[in-house]
Amino acid sequence: MSSLYDEISPESPDDVPVLRVTMTVNGEKRAADVEPRLLLAHLLRYGFRMTGTHTGCDTSNCGACTVLLDGKAIKSCTMLAIQANGHEVTTVEGLATASELHPIQEGFKQEHGLQCGFCTPGMMLAAKALLDDNDDPTEDEVRWALSGNLCRCTGYQNIVKSVLWAAAKLRAEAPAADQESELT
Ligand code: FES
Ligand code: FES
Repeated sequence: MSSLYDEISPESPDDVPVLRVTMTVNGEKRAADVEPRLLLAHLLRYGFRMTGTHTGCDTSNCGACTVLLDGKAIKSCTMLAIQANGHEVTTVEGLATASELHPIQEGFKQEHGLQCGFCTPGMMLAAKALLDDNDDPTEDEVRWALSGNLCRCTGYQNIVKSVLWAAAKLRAEAPAADQESELT
């Protein structure tokens, strides 16, 4: 069985063994039978149809494939799907709720942080890893956090502004959330 590899590489031989992996993707338990050589990026895109995870270089350079693994930003083109077995994965599809954009997505909209959008999911997840850790980053800290993600369109200025906008919004929202938790 090599159904995923059939789509990625039609020349692939049919007799490669598969392993069952399970992981939580955007809060939902998912399972798949994968060949040991399958990349996490390819499982997300072709297996789970999370096509917001882009692949630009397949060599760990561009960052378009960035997702969160247990809250840490990783390049899913350089991780095997079997290495994510038992872990929590967040893709760009997991940022917004049914009714609201995530503040990071709102920031990119407000500050015109994207043009073609190819780099955008990876940028947003790298930004999320930063803001989860540091709610008031300096511009330099934002630039450092995004330094593994390439953008061929924007010149980066508006991406940095977008992340700073999101940080301010998240800080503004935090007291209300804290008060609610104190009341419950
Ligand atoms: Fe993973 Fe470029 S596709 S870093
Ligand atoms: Fe086009 Fe970044 S918006 S690559």
